[in-house]
Amino acid sequence: MFGEGFLGRGATFGADLNLLVQVGLGLLLLIGMVLARRGLYGAHGACQSSALILAIGMTLVWMWPSFREVYAPDLARGIANRTTVAVVAHATLGSTVLLLGVYVVLVAGTSLIPRRFRFQNYSAWMRTLLVLWWITIGLGALTYWFANG
Ligand code: HEM
Repeated sequence: MFGEGFLGRGATFGADLNLLVQVGLGLLLLIGMVLARRGLYGAHGACQSSALILAIGMTLVWMWPSFREVYAPDLARGIANRTTVAVVAHATLGSTVLLLGVYVVLVAGTSLIPRRFRFQNYSAWMRTLLVLWWITIGLGALTYWFANG
């Protein structure tokens, strides 16, 4: 998408932009974690839900189309190499993280989720999500590295 990238690895512009945006969102989540530690829960909620919305946006406009057009045809032909293995691990964990993220934001920030489906242990859920999210960023970066190496 939009031709050549700017990070000098021969990737597309979209891939370079996605890499920077995703690492930026990961850092935003860490800032949001500091806000929660300081008791600034309103700012924390705004920070983490913005990161989630932007991550979903980048998935819809860039990663999902790339998955379908670039990787799905190789996977359908049974091609297993380090890039396809990395992208499958990444997309599987990434989908889980985004769904879990929507669930956590709905429980923490709204009253839409019925009581029996809510959790009480906010910090355990949020800490787990943050770790899984950063693993997803790592697997995405690995995919980028393998695909453009
Ligand atoms: C929290 C969720 C996610 C994060 C933090 C994330 C992060 C990243 C990062 C850092 C990259 C490397 C940059 C790049 O090559 O574009 C990447 C690439 C990629 N991701 Fe994700 N991702 C997430 C969710 C998903 C999901 C749900 C899918 C499923 C379709 C997916 C599919 C891909 C694909 C196919 C690429 C390679 C894109 C390309 O050709 O440039 N990602 N992701």
